[in-house]
Amino acid sequence: MKERLVQWLACPECGGNFTLEVTERVSDEVKSGELRCSRGGHRFPVMRSIPRFVESDQYVGNFSLEWLRNRTTQIDSHTKRDDSEVTFRQKCGFRRADLDGKLVLDVGVGTGRFLEIAKKCGGEVIGIDLSYAVEAAFANFGKNPKVHIIQADIFRLPFKPEIFDAIYSIGVLHHTPNTKEAFLRLPRLLKKQGKIAIWVYDYYSHLPIIMSRYYRRITTRLPKRLLYYLCYIAIPYYYLLKVPFLRHIFRAILPTAPWPDWRWRVLDTFDWYSPKYQWWHTDHEVFAWFEEAGLKNVRVLELPVAISGEKV
Ligand SMILES: C[S@@+](CC[C@H](N)C(=O)[O-])C[C@H]1O[C@@H](n2cnc3c(N)ncnc32)[C@H](O)[C@@H]1O
Ligand SMILES: [Zn+2]
Repeated sequence: MKERLVQWLACPECGGNFTLEVTERVSDEVKSGELRCSRGGHRFPVMRSIPRFVESDQYVGNFSLEWLRNRTTQIDSHTKRDDSEVTFRQKCGFRRADLDGKLVLDVGVGTGRFLEIAKKCGGEVIGIDLSYAVEAAFANFGKNPKVHIIQADIFRLPFKPEIFDAIYSIGVLHHTPNTKEAFLRLPRLLKKQGKIAIWVYDYYSHLPIIMSRYYRRITTRLPKRLLYYLCYIAIPYYYLLKVPFLRHIFRAILPTAPWPDWRWRVLDTFDWYSPKYQWWHTDHEVFAWFEEAGLKNVRVLELPVAISGEKV
């Protein structure tokens, strides 16, 4: 971690400020040490350059496995495509002007595919995640002076209030025990005039793959590594999803990810069948959460369910 990160942190237990005790430093990077809270004496380690506000990956072991196996699969600078950039625009609607020179929070950073876009737009980005995906995100972008990676839980975020100019969370909140409660933890971290955008699973686009809900009763209980290998079925199954007329039946019988890149097919199929929590929402429902949080200029974005708002 970089020392400058400390200015934005607050103890998740008592809200106190931190001092950083450095054990090992390599140039500007604190590789190991301890964050000590000056109010309540709470302590959190910095390990492998990442501040750790949780002791384990709790209910997201599937995401630890998924992202550590796919550290670069969806990273634009690695694929030399622009999938993440296009998706970022569709799912949070932020432009360069919203991020340039701003402090930005990526909630549920994964391997950092969207953090890379926010950084490219000139933002100083803090990415948090509960899973060991943080190791992958750090390996990808952690050396950048304007990137900070933290292992933390959305329900116990280690930040001072009203510090971020922009917050986004793409494909994350619906994988927590309670999507709405997770969302409501975020607006207090926004500065006045700050913007927030989230994307969560859409109830209606889930309907054609309703069978996956029944399979999940079994798949979420399987050993994660076994399930990951079972998801290789998505590689050949892709060709059945191309057969005219019959493809709808195949998709209904065994929903698998339909992407042309085989690695994405395995990854996203695992991403459907493995998470412990998976919820679906409507525009109407999520719009109401933004209003309940007192956010203004609430907008329904291009892709369901993507909503943005502003703190006034
Ligand atoms: C489907 S992945 C999306 C990752 C990234 N936003 C992306 O689109 O590539 C969902 C992420 O949410 C994280 N997550 C789930 N519950 C969380 C929580 N309570 N606190 C922080 N992260 C959480 C998981 O660890 C996982 O990396
Ligand atoms: Zn404390």
